[in-house]
Amino acid sequence: MLTLGIETSCDETAVALVDNGRLLGEKLATQIDVHALFGGVVPEIASREHLRVLPRLFSELLDETGVKPDEIENIAVARGPGLLGSLLVGVSFAKGLCLSTNARLVGVNHLWAHLLAPGLEQELVFPAIGLLVSGGHTHTYLIKSPVEFELLGRTLDDAAGEAFDKVAKVLNFPYPGGRYIDQLSQESEPDTKLFPRAFIENQSLDFSFSGVKTAVANYVASHPELVFDEMADAAAINALSGDRREALSRVCASFNWSVADTLRIKVERALKKADGVKSLIVAGGVAANSMVREYMGRVAAENNLTLTLPGLSLCTDNGAMIAYAGWLFGSSGYSHDLALEAIPRGRVVPLDWTVNGDKSANE
Ligand code: KG4
Ligand code: ZN
Repeated sequence: MLTLGIETSCDETAVALVDNGRLLGEKLATQIDVHALFGGVVPEIASREHLRVLPRLFSELLDETGVKPDEIENIAVARGPGLLGSLLVGVSFAKGLCLSTNARLVGVNHLWAHLLAPGLEQELVFPAIGLLVSGGHTHTYLIKSPVEFELLGRTLDDAAGEAFDKVAKVLNFPYPGGRYIDQLSQESEPDTKLFPRAFIENQSLDFSFSGVKTAVANYVASHPELVFDEMADAAAINALSGDRREALSRVCASFNWSVADTLRIKVERALKKADGVKSLIVAGGVAANSMVREYMGRVAAENNLTLTLPGLSLCTDNGAMIAYAGWLFGSSGYSHDLALEAIPRGRVVPLDWTVNGDKSANE
C-alpha cells in the first residue's frame, strides 16, 4: 500500500513515501534559520513558509521516486497537535490531493507518529511504554498496539525540549539550543546538587520542567561570565576553551542530568503501574540527547525490555514518520473523510476515524 506522508505541524515542512512499511523517499525543508532570528517559532511565518515550499517538495518527491500521483493509495497528514495555521496548510493540501486522486485520507496524531517512527528501522514490540520528549510535548503512554495509546503522564508546564531551548537562550546559544547543551554536557560530570529534579516527590507520572529552567536562569544570572555577549553560533561554542568551557560544560551537564534523571524516574514509575510491558520506545527531538539515550538504555536493560530508540534523523519532525503511521493505520482499515479537522496544541486529538467504513466503531 503506497502511502504519502505530509508533516507541517511546526517548523519543518516534510513529505515522504512509504510502500508497505518501507521508506521509498523523503523531502524535508526546515525553517530553523528563519525562526532563529526571533529566538523561537513565529506561527504566522511558519504557515506562510509551509505554503511556499510544500508543493515544491511534493513534486520533487514524485520526480525522485518516479511515483505518479494516481498511484498513491493512502494520503496521511499530521492533523495535530501543532500550530493551527501550519497544520491547516498540510491538511488542506492532503484533502485537495485526495479529491484529485481518489486516495484514502488518514489523519495522523503527530505524537503517535513520533513513537511509531522507529518501526521503519526495527520491529515494534507491544505492549510498550512510550516516552515522547520533544520541543512541544513530554508525554508517557501505554501503547497496546499501533492504534491503542493510553496517556499516562504529561508535562504540567514546559516540555523537556522547551526547557532545553529556554536554558540555551539564557546562555545565548543559537535556537534551538538543545543539541549544544548536549554537546557541552558530554565534556563534564554533572553536579547533581546544582539543580533540582522537579516534581518527583510524589506518585504522579506527570512532569514539570519550568522550575529547573528557572533554577538554571537564576544560577546563570549570578554567574554572568558564563553567558555569551551576543548570540553565539556553533563555531563560537566550539571555539570556547579553558576554565570558561569547563564551567559552562558543568552547568550544561548538571541541567541535562536533572532532566534526564527526572525522565528516568517517571518512566520507571510508569513501568511499575503498567502490566506486561515488553518494550520501551523513546521518541521526539530530545530522544537525540546522549544522556537521555544512555539512561533509557539502562532502564530497559534493568527491566528486561526491548529498547526502541529511533536513529537521529527520525527523532526530529519528519515526513517518514507520518507516512509510516499512516500506512499502519490505513492498512488496518482506518481512515478519515474530508471533514478531517486540524487540532491545535492543547486540544485532545479525537479518535474520529472510520474503521473499515464503520464510523460508529470509535464514537
Ligand atoms: O520533535 P522535535 O523536532 O519538534 C517538536 O515536535 O517539538 O523536537 C525539537 C526539540 C527542540 O527543543 C530541540 O532543542 C530538542 O528537540 N533537541 C535536543 C537535542 N536535539 C534536539 N534536546 C536535547 N539534546 C539534543 N541532542
Ligand atoms: Zn514533533
